[in-house]
Amino acid sequence: MSQPQPSESPILQGDADTIICFCERITELEVRTAIVVGKAASVEEVSGKTRAGTACRACHCRIQRMLEGKPPQCGGPCSRCDACGWIAALCACGQS
Ligand code: FES
Repeated sequence: MSQPQPSESPILQGDADTIICFCERITELEVRTAIVVGKAASVEEVSGKTRAGTACRACHCRIQRMLEGKPPQCGGPCSRCDACGWIAALCACGQS
């Protein structure tokens, strides 16, 4: 009997293409792996394991939401701009 691979585990479901930290290009799946497998329990611990959140810190609210078991998008200024996909608070496309 083979063991499921981490990417097949239902507890590790996360989008490998969705960027959580734009500065360090860290994906939702990488953050979720740090939380579930790496037992990261704080934004600082996730940062230490992935480098997410180590630059501008705009992704801290998304990481915190994931730590709380919520979807990463908050709908606030730290969400992605619908037009350009950058962090709304930092984008310069003028559409957010
Ligand atoms: S978006 Fe994560 S540190 Fe800037």
